[in-house]
Amino acid sequence: MCGIVGAVAERSITPILVEGLKRLEYRGYDSAGVAVFTQSGQLQRCRRVGKVAELAQALAGEPLNGHLGIAHTRWATHGAPSERNAHPHFSGEELAVVHNGIIENHEELRSRLQGLGYVFSSDTDTETIVHLLQHKLQQLGDLAAALKAAIPELHGAYGLAVISAKQPDRILAARSGSPLVIGLGLGENFLASDQLALRQVTDRFMYLEEGDIAEIRRDSVQIWDASGQSVQREQVQYHEGAEAADKGAYRHFMLKEIHEQPKVVQRTLEGRLGTDHVLVQAFGPQAEELFAKVRNVQIVACGTSYHAGMVARYWLEGLAGIPCQVEVASEFRYRKVVVQPDTLFVSISQSGETADTLAALRNAKELGYLASLAICNVGISSLVRESDLTLLTQAGPEIGVASTKAFTTQLVGLMLLTLSLGQVRGTLEAGVAPELVEELRRLPTRLGEALAMDKTVEKIAELFAEKHHTLFLGRGAQYPVAMEGALKLKEISYIHAEAYPAGELKHGPLALVDSDMPVVTVAPNNELLEKLKSNLQEVAARGGQLIVFADQQAGMSNGAGTHVVNMPHIHDALAPILYTLPLQLLSYYVAVFKGTDVDQPRNLAKSVTVE
Ligand code: F6R
Repeated sequence: MCGIVGAVAERSITPILVEGLKRLEYRGYDSAGVAVFTQSGQLQRCRRVGKVAELAQALAGEPLNGHLGIAHTRWATHGAPSERNAHPHFSGEELAVVHNGIIENHEELRSRLQGLGYVFSSDTDTETIVHLLQHKLQQLGDLAAALKAAIPELHGAYGLAVISAKQPDRILAARSGSPLVIGLGLGENFLASDQLALRQVTDRFMYLEEGDIAEIRRDSVQIWDASGQSVQREQVQYHEGAEAADKGAYRHFMLKEIHEQPKVVQRTLEGRLGTDHVLVQAFGPQAEELFAKVRNVQIVACGTSYHAGMVARYWLEGLAGIPCQVEVASEFRYRKVVVQPDTLFVSISQSGETADTLAALRNAKELGYLASLAICNVGISSLVRESDLTLLTQAGPEIGVASTKAFTTQLVGLMLLTLSLGQVRGTLEAGVAPELVEELRRLPTRLGEALAMDKTVEKIAELFAEKHHTLFLGRGAQYPVAMEGALKLKEISYIHAEAYPAGELKHGPLALVDSDMPVVTVAPNNELLEKLKSNLQEVAARGGQLIVFADQQAGMSNGAGTHVVNMPHIHDALAPILYTLPLQLLSYYVAVFKGTDVDQPRNLAKSVTVE
């Protein structure tokens, strides 16, 4: 998704802008550009379709040197990926704007501004912002005043930054629905849509809040809130996750993040487990009182986070006896929903900025839910700020576009929720909480053992190199794990993959099975194992190639066309967390074999902040 970087400094800012864009590459984009107020006293820009490296190369050939600039990575929403649609957008030679988000009334603005004589050179909604600002600037003469006057006319979601050749000592920024952070330096200041972009130049940050407008100069920052009042925002010193933007010894961020899971699961559990129970306060001061009233749970999320919600449904109903519904946010937000009394609305999101999930939460607030809870990895995200209760996962920044450690930490958060609700409501069977708390403490070690199979899984991945389709099977809470396995494989290897509950096989998909269709199965040792084994017989009998990740006590062994990988034994309730790991590794190695762009798969963005 789009990224913004800005800098005002005494030193040359172009290398800072380009490095910032590189650090935002993980979000996904199709083009990139910079605008700099150059030493010749002009606003100049350079834009390229493709990677930031191509932009950097163009800038090496024709350098833009200056002390004020803004930069952007674009993920096309209005208008195709092309140089003319790439940001920054200009109005004449005076103003440059970069923008994340969507201006919904862009058509009306465009025709109004065209009527005033402005000539558009792109198909973007963003270009309406820069001409509108120019129009206001001509009337008001000051950039901050122009932005304040323009904001009420912009409908939609945006984080934006603007610079002017007439006031070349400042960056103006505005936030509404799309995050922005100011990086504070000594005699220099910066702006970005994600602090990761600025970790190279500072560790002091100020996060803009919804409706804020900021004027950033070399030696001062002034912020006005949505009501126009001058405000101070807290300065935050950032330590955590500094290493996350670095691949270390790993070939890809995704592999690094897969291997970080024991550590980040441990962190997600820290401070949340009592001797034999979960500390309900982990969900916030009002949690205990609210949880006591919960009679139903509605979970809403997208993609991988939705799969985490699907697993949680088995837990909430199976362990805590609490009815639970799970829905993808893009459906929930447009559906007429019947809300059961005393229903807790739970949103799950790595980024906390996913447009559909946020919209679902905003709708839910009008629908009479008991309260809203966000399970999220980003403490300063919109989802967190707008929810009544929060449980932060501690996955650290996730750079690989395909979600891995965010998913397993979400599952941990959802298990904590299940146990907390069950404890407070008194619906857990005796002994369940102490037993699972003990198992959760052992979980990081088990995950480490599963990751030790890395090389075995790499070998199996070779089987997929020439395949075009794959089936993933699971039963019970392993069905969403199979769905997540299929999603990972298609995202990064571009192999078509579908997941089915194993019992559905004979109701249709069995027709697809032959020697060209590998079938991947997760088989913990539980009450469904025998049924699963007979489903697998159905596959083997049709010449299908089976890859089974099975509990070491499940009594399954290699046979003709059947590859069994023994997994460490684990409590059945936590098996979805453990069995996710070999599926992540499998997708990763298949993608490496196929030579795809593992960390930035085609057509995908890390944070989907538009609908
Ligand atoms: C898949 C993936 C996506 C996200 C989805 C929701 O690997 O990462 O499916 O899970 O876009 O994103 P968040 O969790 O940030 O709301």
